Amino acid sequence: MSEKTIQFDQPQLKGTITVPGDKSISHRSVMFGSIAKGTTTVEGFLLGEDCLSTIDCFRKLGVKIDVNGTNVVIESPGMDGWAEPKEVLYTGNSGTTTRLMLGILGGTKLHTIMTGDASIGKRPMRRVADPLRLMGAQIAGRENGQYTPLAIQGTDLQAIDYTMPVASAQVKSAILLAGLRAQGTTIVRESEVSRDHTERMLRQFGAIIDVTDGVVSFEGGQQLTGTHVNVPGDISSAAFFLVAGAITKGSEIILKNVGVNETRAGIIEVLEKMGAAMRVGIENEQAAEPTATITISTSDLQATTIEGNIIPRLIDEIPILALLATQATGTTVIKDAEELKVKETDRITAVVTELKKLGANIEATDDGMIINGPTKLHGGALKSYGDHRIGMMAAVAALVTDDPVTLDDAACIAVSYPTFFEHLETLLQR
Ligand code: S3P
Repeated sequence: MSEKTIQFDQPQLKGTITVPGDKSISHRSVMFGSIAKGTTTVEGFLLGEDCLSTIDCFRKLGVKIDVNGTNVVIESPGMDGWAEPKEVLYTGNSGTTTRLMLGILGGTKLHTIMTGDASIGKRPMRRVADPLRLMGAQIAGRENGQYTPLAIQGTDLQAIDYTMPVASAQVKSAILLAGLRAQGTTIVRESEVSRDHTERMLRQFGAIIDVTDGVVSFEGGQQLTGTHVNVPGDISSAAFFLVAGAITKGSEIILKNVGVNETRAGIIEVLEKMGAAMRVGIENEQAAEPTATITISTSDLQATTIEGNIIPRLIDEIPILALLATQATGTTVIKDAEELKVKETDRITAVVTELKKLGANIEATDDGMIINGPTKLHGGALKSYGDHRIGMMAAVAALVTDDPVTLDDAACIAVSYPTFFEHLETLLQR
């Protein structure tokens, strides 16, 4: 554990930062590059612990992966040339690695075992294992396949037509990745659109895929071809500085290279609705993953309701949006977000418990939270629960508290944003 005391004296944030690469896209770049035969080059890769876990798993499958700063080169014999790993594949804290790998490994000829850290050991896996079993996958796991460690015996798969019971890009992606090896046309139906990086990247690697009105379909047996992937900055990391800039008096922050794929950009709509002083300059609308330069400055904020189909488009931003709501005038209601309970930790309980310690007027509900603001926050001893996004929420909260915030475990922030405190330092005007 790495305790950290976070203290600022009348802070102001000014300047420009380039947020690190998108976590979801970085994972997928290594997965797709390993599935494809030949060479894939990746630029802007996130060197966070989660994405390094993905690299480690594919190295154990015999894929050659060179990391040089944020440039990654993957040379793969293709899926059929992977080696049966002699060791357990360790996915660390990463739900995306564990769930997407399950889809990928199900259709190989290999026997593999996957496990992760204590948090991964509590996260539901049957939401992925069940549809994969319908495709013929042989997956065993603790409590009838619900929890890691998971054992996979790769086998031939059949396509399915699957209606998603939860809005989850991880479930959708696992099925699509299994569908690559399945016989027939795999169809996934979503009632609420979740992030679509897998669909976009399948196209980038040469697959033909149809997406119409929330229905994704594609033919099994398609071969992927190595390519170049440009990873945009992670909007979920940018979110912490968007909120920091909006609530820290006298601030103006410029965030460069932020990925603004519309299936991820719900936070921009919420900030606009709350009255944030923000400019979004989109740079490359036609790219596989469009990016923008976003400028945000301090402003008076109004409460809002966050509900319905915007939730999957900002699910990872809810902890920091809850902090934002403590500084907005009125009652903010967050609902339809029960998925928060099965993230790296139960994020409804964690956010409400920790912000209450700072004096926030916040209550948990079954599917979200209700926050009354604005509230002057005071300092306190906070817990991150080993969850990177709770840790960063606590650090940003310290910008508006009158006493220091102590965080029990700040090291977990390296899961998605290893340079978070350096970027904060760069922006601080002392
Ligand atoms: C992710 C999807 C989301 C998100 C997670 C990354 C992905 O999870 O919370 O941080 O890369 O596909 P769900 O799809 O399970 O909601």
